[in-house]
Amino acid sequence: MINLKKIKSICCIGAGYVGGPTMAVIADKCPNIRVNVVDINQERIDSWNDLDLSKLPVFEPGLADIIGRVRNKNLFFSTNVGKFISKSELVFISVNTPTKKYGIGAGKASDISSLEECTRQVAKYATGHTIVIEKSTIPVKTAAAVKAILETTQSDNDLNKTFSVLSNPEFLAEGTAIKDLENPDRILIGGDDNDAINLLKDIYLNWVDINKIITTNLWSSELSKLASNAFLAQRISSINSFSALCEETGANIDELKRAIGTDKRIGQYFLNAGPGFGGSCFQKDILNLTYLSEHFGLPEVAAYWEQVININNWQQYRIYKTVLNKLFGTLSNKKISIFGFAFKADTNDTRESPAIKICKYLLDENASIVIHDPRVNESNIDIDLKDYIKLKFSKWEVSSDFELAAKDSDAIIILTEWDIYQKIDWFKIEKLMRKPAWVFDTRKLIEPNVIKKTNLNFWQIGYGLN
Ligand code: UDX
Ligand code: UDX
Repeated sequence: MINLKKIKSICCIGAGYVGGPTMAVIADKCPNIRVNVVDINQERIDSWNDLDLSKLPVFEPGLADIIGRVRNKNLFFSTNVGKFISKSELVFISVNTPTKKYGIGAGKASDISSLEECTRQVAKYATGHTIVIEKSTIPVKTAAAVKAILETTQSDNDLNKTFSVLSNPEFLAEGTAIKDLENPDRILIGGDDNDAINLLKDIYLNWVDINKIITTNLWSSELSKLASNAFLAQRISSINSFSALCEETGANIDELKRAIGTDKRIGQYFLNAGPGFGGSCFQKDILNLTYLSEHFGLPEVAAYWEQVININNWQQYRIYKTVLNKLFGTLSNKKISIFGFAFKADTNDTRESPAIKICKYLLDENASIVIHDPRVNESNIDIDLKDYIKLKFSKWEVSSDFELAAKDSDAIIILTEWDIYQKIDWFKIEKLMRKPAWVFDTRKLIEPNVIKKTNLNFWQIGYGLN
């Protein structure tokens, strides 16, 4: 039995793409709870506190409005991690858990060193009873390590300090984060302490229907997040494998999607062929899943999921090969315009974006590339491409205007499904480009009948009549 009746103050460690929007929505929906978001990155916290809401570190439709409403009322951003842990009854840990780059499991396992460090900070600064919640996606069984760290500290230092550990993974997708948070398909809470579970449930009940709140044991909750991302990514690799078959056979991926998606057992969502999945989660989580499967003596399971990543990588390679083939096998002295660098529309995030790998392939072929993206900062692209270019001596630049980017170029490759690319006047673009000019649409954004009225050569993913 824990001696807590109500949560009055929450702390979230990690002011990233997950922690920031999630806490903003909790603060908005729970005006009586003080929500403190803390992060070790001063620059990031300063951006969250910037009076100019267009400078927030995360771009998400609807986010700036919420921040404008609740910031400095019941939502606070700070780097004072210890202070706000000690003042809170409930601490979310939402720090990054990237793929490990060193030692055993390098390239596959998730690196949970930041999560461990944060747990130690919670152990140090917490007062009274504290509910610790894993928000970050982590390997199944991580809660055992979190509990061990908290319990050791508890007995070493202060017997009045007690802890409950819950898993409460986040299922929001970037670009629709606010909608997903305000109207989630489900809220998943894993744990073995019913009092703690109920206190967390009470927070969500401020806006979420009770039937949408699922409670499980800790391990089911941790594993469900990995399983969920693996299933979603698998659908993308499945449809992408068929996009290649469509191109070879004369079938059309949109017609295929409709034909299979109307089967209720398959469902219509997440069946868009494209340049492969990007984002901070899918690849990292599947690599982690394959690592765990091997660790638990299940190599067949590991091999099954690994294939999802292989198809994803192949899809990017095959798009590059298609561009190269259509441009007579050489990209030297050719200008290629990249339309879209974010890993999906409506976000400024480029983590694991298919654009990175495709641009690198093109630069490897000595192409000159000009990148346009309506939201991604040039400094991000700089980080994503810089070292590579130094090695390969190719060149790239960024343009804030897609028409300028298209000027004198030999090919345009659409890599992100931004709205503005849907409204492009292809007759105007045609006049700007060097002939013979190509447009490669990897997102099925363009209506083929429209562009075919121009003199542009056109290729579209999964379009059998390419
Ligand atoms: C992160 C994880 O990557 C993901 O696995 C999980 O599901 C949710 O949290 P995201 O919010 O997208 O996702 O990561 P990111 O935008 O990198 O934000 C993490 C923040 O944690 C960064 O601002 C970083 O500075 C901060 N951090 C990291 C700390 O405050 N303390 C640390 O010790 C480490
Ligand atoms: C994903 C999960 O959807 C979310 O539940 C989890 O919490 C985090 O990981 P996110 O990566 O933000 O969210 O975006 P998502 O919409 O899933 O897209 C991931 C990638 O898949 C993007 O590159 C997107 O373009 C691609 N995608 C998605 C497709 O290629 N086709 C589709 O049909 C859907």
